[in-house]
Amino acid sequence: MATLTTNLFHGQGERDHRLDVVEGQWPADVDGSVYVVGPDKRGPGGHWFGEQGLVERIRMRPDAEGRVVVEHRRVATVVDGLRRRHPRLFAKVQFMELSPFGVSNFANTNVAAIDGRLFLGYDAGRPVEIDPETLEHLTPVGANDEWLQSAPGLLEPLCAVAAHPAVDVEDRSMYFVNYSQLSAAGVERETWLARWDLEGAVQRWRVVGMSPYDSIHDVKATEHHLVISDLPFVVEPDGFRGAPRTIRNQTHTSLWIVPKSDLDAAPPGATVQATEVRLPMPSGHVLVDRDEPGGLVRVVLQHMPLADLMVSIGPATRDHRNGALIDAEYEGMVALAVQPSVIGRYLIDPVTGRVHEAEVVHDDERLWGGILTTTDLHRVDARRHQRQLWYAGCGFDPDLVPQPWWDLYGDAADGLVDPAQLPQQAVPGALARIDLESMKVAEVWAYEDGAFPSPPTFVPRTGSDRPDDGYVLVVVHRDGDKELQLFDAQHLELGPVARATAAGFHPGLLLHSTWMADRIGPRRSSYSVPVRRDVVGAVRGIPGVLRSMARMVRDLRRERTSGGAAVERP
Ligand SMILES: [Fe+2]
Repeated sequence: MATLTTNLFHGQGERDHRLDVVEGQWPADVDGSVYVVGPDKRGPGGHWFGEQGLVERIRMRPDAEGRVVVEHRRVATVVDGLRRRHPRLFAKVQFMELSPFGVSNFANTNVAAIDGRLFLGYDAGRPVEIDPETLEHLTPVGANDEWLQSAPGLLEPLCAVAAHPAVDVEDRSMYFVNYSQLSAAGVERETWLARWDLEGAVQRWRVVGMSPYDSIHDVKATEHHLVISDLPFVVEPDGFRGAPRTIRNQTHTSLWIVPKSDLDAAPPGATVQATEVRLPMPSGHVLVDRDEPGGLVRVVLQHMPLADLMVSIGPATRDHRNGALIDAEYEGMVALAVQPSVIGRYLIDPVTGRVHEAEVVHDDERLWGGILTTTDLHRVDARRHQRQLWYAGCGFDPDLVPQPWWDLYGDAADGLVDPAQLPQQAVPGALARIDLESMKVAEVWAYEDGAFPSPPTFVPRTGSDRPDDGYVLVVVHRDGDKELQLFDAQHLELGPVARATAAGFHPGLLLHSTWMADRIGPRRSSYSVPVRRDVVGAVRGIPGVLRSMARMVRDLRRERTSGGAAVERP
């Protein structure tokens, strides 16, 4: 019987909670809120990522009775409203949803804060802005015709924009990667870097010099460069009909580095050249230092060896060891927790792509199943140079290694631990502090009985501007009532400084998070894309989208004729 909690996907939607501090003392030197976003799942089934976004706001200052207030609101986009009124027009295909309005933008993956404003990301849709106070949906970023479109729709044509933008606080702008999400394998994708100054038009430059990739999920900005990272995310055409995967994920990470000055030098619409870097092991997310001492870019990668976001536990998924059906309560969970958590640090020459230093850190005894990381991105000095990272994971459960994963990776030689040598006992979920200077696991706080923390969020100490000075907040998922735990960021091994919970506190497992200071006064912008403008932009894009889809079909046919593997990405 599996150890990991089954209390993953029984979410409660838009329910609010007031949590009692049941142990320790909630510190007085915190303020603002932690925002978490994720799929609004109300029960197991389907894919973890396949629901409209739900935003969880955790107010860091307790209310007058000393309770911690947690609110949940759906991301109420225009299409979300149309789905409620006309559900028959919508159909789920794996984790995506299709309708005449396009590919629904679930806005359920990432949350980013800048300038008192809050933005949600979703790889198969445009970023959207929500109000950090009311949590209301405000506007998409950029009208449909400001983005490259990959599939037609009347309101939400598929605009693939990596869920993680580069939030450039110093330049007061955001950078996005927008790319063609449907293509034949081996064909160079149309990929664009977009810059948005938080108002007005989205400006785009076409990036050239990129080898074929599966998908792009993350981009980050140094003082002078943009660093794009790819994400292994293979969807085979037959997968849409429920067929098992036949192609495993890639064994490397591709990075592409583009000088910001190239965007200044070329008009929007022009092409810019990327420097490509290839590193061993695929990655989920990328971090960079803003500083570039000696002209080198320091990159930190959250690697994900042998993980596969498209291997999801379904109703007929079996344990690879004995053929036993895996408990239906885990339906929707993806194969993330199959290796130790590993972080890589690299010093790269952005001009030549030469890797000057490469180091990885992992702890095969104590840290498995890494899901999400957090760092201090709130202080200038911390952004200039990232010194520490907190990594939370769900551990390893030998009873939750699905047969479809084993079929693809059972003989893989590019993991950290040989699949044949996977632990026979469960490794508990844990929160760890990783020292990015010494590349050591500095501290680990482990959870028993199948509990695990996710996501972790760095919360700066009020009144301090020292890098990494503050707390790490985690949501602990476990059987029964869940809880919040707040740790001193430098002393995880002392245990949480405060725990807060309440009867009936059962939020579902969400995804990324961020801390943000309270906004003082009204929203500082009137930016908004009118729906009418959006519809016009969508319709105007249809001929171009149909042309590129015809090209893709031609490429796929050509590949099939020549015996190559045809791969379609989401
Ligand atoms: Fe992500």
